[in-house]
Amino acid sequence: MLPQEVIRRKRDGAALSRDEVQEFIAGLTSGSVSEGQVAAFAMAVFFKGMSREEAVGLTLAMRDSGTVLTWDLPGPVVDKHSSGGIGDNLSLMLAPMLAACGLYVPMISGRGLGHTGGTLDKLDSIPGYVTQPGLDLFRKVTRDAGCAIIGQTADLAPADKRLYGIRDVTATVESIPLITASILSKKLAAGLQHLVLDVKVGSGAFMATMEEAVGLAESLVAVANGAGLRTTALITDMDEPLAPYAGNALEVAHACGFLTGEIVNRRVMEITLALGAELLLSARIDSDAETAKARLRNTIDTGAAAERFERMVAALGGPTDFLRDHQKYLIQAPIIRPVFADENGVVASIRTRELGLAVIELGGGRRVATDMIDHRVGLAQLLGKGFAADFNTPLCWVHAADEASFERAAAIVKSAYSVGDAPGKSTAIHARIAA
Ligand code: URA
Repeated sequence: MLPQEVIRRKRDGAALSRDEVQEFIAGLTSGSVSEGQVAAFAMAVFFKGMSREEAVGLTLAMRDSGTVLTWDLPGPVVDKHSSGGIGDNLSLMLAPMLAACGLYVPMISGRGLGHTGGTLDKLDSIPGYVTQPGLDLFRKVTRDAGCAIIGQTADLAPADKRLYGIRDVTATVESIPLITASILSKKLAAGLQHLVLDVKVGSGAFMATMEEAVGLAESLVAVANGAGLRTTALITDMDEPLAPYAGNALEVAHACGFLTGEIVNRRVMEITLALGAELLLSARIDSDAETAKARLRNTIDTGAAAERFERMVAALGGPTDFLRDHQKYLIQAPIIRPVFADENGVVASIRTRELGLAVIELGGGRRVATDMIDHRVGLAQLLGKGFAADFNTPLCWVHAADEASFERAAAIVKSAYSVGDAPGKSTAIHARIAA
């Protein structure tokens, strides 16, 4: 069938058959479908949408465009995916916590996108850590440590790589069926059995409203389950930074402190335990959420999660003593200085996206895909909503490479915070979406 006929039918609002979608994606992968045709297809889907059945077909066709991993492991194979936010370093803690519960977590993560940070950029702060190992090493580390966090490889879902690149430059990224197929094709290619999605909502998320976040979560959950991957989603708050640190090495240091029990953070713990419990319940390791959360919590208290993290880092080329001695390995920025609010008061609201932009201003994120990242820089000890800001308590500490970037970031941070009388009310988890 001709690609232009598939595009024409989608343009006119028809539901495409599995065969049509499969053939189009095969042509997209082999290169026989031109860039112009892929762009037109993406735009037709953007305007006409897709039924759940079509989105499942698209997701499976994209999964099958490359290697689909299979695992022969003594426990369930699981993963967590976040739609992205500020101070969202949960993967670094949750993967080893799950591994310590007997689950296996082959986690394929991304780089920073827009104003949000990416797990891979954070891991690049660890000297020696290989974020692009071959599939053999990926498999070995997943088996031996129980978790391996790496970057996208060329073999998994190559159709997504081409389609995403074309969507990026044709204003067709923000399409729920295309986002759904893009995320899930990679998860399915990784051979997962259970998935939990952390869909962020609020001023620092891609989905600013509950309606948008629920729409994305429902699509992801329905299509994932339709494609045979048991999946639930939590909609969690991004109206303030999750961890009180934003910036690559700073978020890694926070994760190390969390895993060793030296840093205690209520919101981070609440969301981490809730996401992990979804997977333990889905995999039938536990039958109620409280038992699952206690099991996860225990991995911190006993040091079992810390030990898994240490094993993963060492197996992927990092220092063997990284966890305990991370301050020795994570390079500090030359300027570390507080930023205060102009008046005393309580943090009422935070324009969280601005904090992500401040990190980019410091050099900790990218303006264009080819930008190099300065892993040292970022924002530390960020005040959350409802906390008092006064002349002794800064909004945060800015870690900067030079005076000029410090000044620019400090101005953005000050404008992002509203300090007043009314304490901001904070809810960490807004909703749960299941099939
Ligand atoms: N992340 C992805 O992997 N794909 C999208 O389309 C959007 C976010």
